[in-house]
Amino acid sequence: MEVAYYGGAFIDIHEKVIPIQERGHQFGDGVYEVIRVYDGHPFMMEEHLDRLEMSANEILLKMPLTRTEIKEIAAEGLQRAGIKEAEIYIQVTRGIAARNHLFPDVPAQFAMTIRQAKQFSPEKRQHGVSVTLLEDERWANCFIKSLNLLPNVIAKQKAVTNGHEEAVLVRQGFVTEGSSSNVFAIKDGILYTTPATKRILHGITRSAVIACAEKLGIPVVEKEMDVDFFTSADEAFFTSTSVEIMPIAKVDEKVLPADRPITNKLHKAYQALYQAVAQ
Ligand code: PDD
Repeated sequence: MEVAYYGGAFIDIHEKVIPIQERGHQFGDGVYEVIRVYDGHPFMMEEHLDRLEMSANEILLKMPLTRTEIKEIAAEGLQRAGIKEAEIYIQVTRGIAARNHLFPDVPAQFAMTIRQAKQFSPEKRQHGVSVTLLEDERWANCFIKSLNLLPNVIAKQKAVTNGHEEAVLVRQGFVTEGSSSNVFAIKDGILYTTPATKRILHGITRSAVIACAEKLGIPVVEKEMDVDFFTSADEAFFTSTSVEIMPIAKVDEKVLPADRPITNKLHKAYQALYQAVAQ
């Protein structure tokens, strides 16, 4: 069963509860997180809550709940949902007040949903997916996990409409990240990824994959990748909480090699991380 929490209580996920003057609704004035649950256990929850607090702090929003309270709501939600392979979505907004750009003096609002996680078939992972390069039209603070996702949703839609799985965004000739993922390339045995500046979200999966590579003795270089560099990679993949590691088979018309020894090794190492937590 899908579960939702809003206004301090568990509610029916289909219930109409967001007041018209919710600032998340009117301004996209808030921040969010997505946490993957494996076999009933939230994975890297502390890291996600760290990032949620960082994002809230960056937009000058005071968290309405403590970390312990959030974890308690998640635990109860998971129990009510009875879903073992789940995705927890958390959203914190600047509350409910008559529309005015100025910050209102009202408490922040906390929302959560718990739904079945998306599953990706082994065949799809084996085959890899197609991505398309699109201009990165987002703002200067992409490290904040803000609700303002308009450029991201437009990029994703354009990608899928044109037969791709993900949009890889390009700013001034350099690859930044996916519309909802981070990107990696492998060349001559070295793993490359865009540096964690303000231009990308500092993905939790990205950090975990870098740690896996270091443990496996795979050299990691954080480097601005131009389009030529990225499209001539030996292997490439994107990462996120929802997809884990997804191999890229094609970048627009450019087909990448089908042999992906390092991507496969990294994915196994990443799976071992959450399997260890779920035991
Ligand atoms: N998206 N970059 C962007 C723009 C993202 O939206 C995401 C995640 C990532 C990967 O971050 P992480 O590894 O911490 O999930 C990178 C989530 C899953 C979403 O919006 O649904």
